[in-house]
Amino acid sequence: MPRLVVVSNRVADPRKTAAGGLAVALGEALNATGGLWFGWSGNIVEKTDAAAQAQPQLHVQRAGDVTLATVDLTQEDHDAYYLGYSNGVLWPVFHYRLDLADFDAGYIGGYRRVNRMFAQQVLPLLRPDDLIWVHDYHLIPLAEELRSLGCRQRIGFFLHIPLPPPLIMAAIPAHEWLIRALFAYDLVGLQSQTDLNHFARYVYTEAQAEQAADGRFSAFGRELRVQAFPIGIDVDEFASLTQGREAQETLATMRDQYAKRRLLVGVDRLDYSKGLPQRLRAMRSLLQRYPGNCNSATLIQIASPSRETVGAYNDLRRQLEGLCGSINGNYGELDWMPIRYIHRTVARKRLPGLYRASRVALVTPLRDGMNLVAKEFIAAQDEADPGVLVLSRFAGAAEQLRDALLVNPYDSDGTADAIQHALHMPLEERQTRHQRLLANIREYDVHWWQRRFLESLQQ
Ligand code: G6P
Repeated sequence: MPRLVVVSNRVADPRKTAAGGLAVALGEALNATGGLWFGWSGNIVEKTDAAAQAQPQLHVQRAGDVTLATVDLTQEDHDAYYLGYSNGVLWPVFHYRLDLADFDAGYIGGYRRVNRMFAQQVLPLLRPDDLIWVHDYHLIPLAEELRSLGCRQRIGFFLHIPLPPPLIMAAIPAHEWLIRALFAYDLVGLQSQTDLNHFARYVYTEAQAEQAADGRFSAFGRELRVQAFPIGIDVDEFASLTQGREAQETLATMRDQYAKRRLLVGVDRLDYSKGLPQRLRAMRSLLQRYPGNCNSATLIQIASPSRETVGAYNDLRRQLEGLCGSINGNYGELDWMPIRYIHRTVARKRLPGLYRASRVALVTPLRDGMNLVAKEFIAAQDEADPGVLVLSRFAGAAEQLRDALLVNPYDSDGTADAIQHALHMPLEERQTRHQRLLANIREYDVHWWQRRFLESLQQ
């Protein structure tokens, strides 16, 4: 297999567990080929640093057989490219939140500048027969920039977030430029069939595309292959974390504290796409509609801090704090609170213990590319006495995980009914559902995803 070059905004050391399953899976493909991972260092340098501006310094580090190459961003580029265009325009619109998009005309210049700079920096590191795999919405125009510099290697792109329907996409002033830029790739991978349908409808209606017999789309004078490759997790890696010391400690503590109560769990970045206020309202509705849960059901909601300098994230944080306070204030007892809200990141090694101690997981995003928490919850369960997954029908994962209890997160009463069903589901039904879910995440795991994408890119 040719050498693999991965390009993404964030770069992680694949040897570290904290980095998560995706880094591990990419690390595996990178390791096998002595590959290179290129991206942002995570550092911001002052604009006054003239040398850094003219030619950002490349930081090169070895991680086993993998080379990690990163560059810093100036404050101005970081604000326009990362905060502004990536997380102020693309993230909200691709998650159907036009109301939260900030179409400041100044952002796109920074987005293009950083993509061009990435292309200029990575190009000299490339070998003629490399396979290049670009990840996520931060880097949509990267292939076009690379091509304009003469890059002829195969380049694939995977979008980790949803692709919205054409009329939502069309709200972005530069939408045609973005979609046209995708046509500089040899292969584009999306998370779900729904995303693929949206792409097809966009290019038919907005770009008069035609589809060739082999599934390629032809538009803007170019041809492109687009396929759905639902991302998975490393099931064995997660199952082995479950046996680790930290997970076992967490499991024992939780079982001890909640021996006579029922535990529900939610683990998310604090992001408006995750449906957190709606989830809390569903919990309130659960307590109202089924008072038997008072003094019993507790939701541990971990909301890890994310993108805190983007305004919408701060508003959400305040909203959640208000809701938790009001629900706990209204329903709490001296020795019981319905919501335990934790605005912090919990160590990845502890999560399997928390998942295993929980009878129900609430994974109820308003929109999500895939959602790997849903899959990790399944992987962490005890097959003899498994918990139940309550999953939003608007998560990409819902296309695969049909044996979860699928809910509409906007319908708090309907979600409360599903939670009640989950809390009281007989053992036999829990086992049957769990076996099917586990078989699915095992078949379509992260190794399958990585292999399928790279095989397809090489075809
Ligand atoms: C999502 C995106 C990733 C991103 C992650 C964390 O999962 O698909 O590309 O890295 O969120 O967000 P952050 O802005 O901190 O990188």
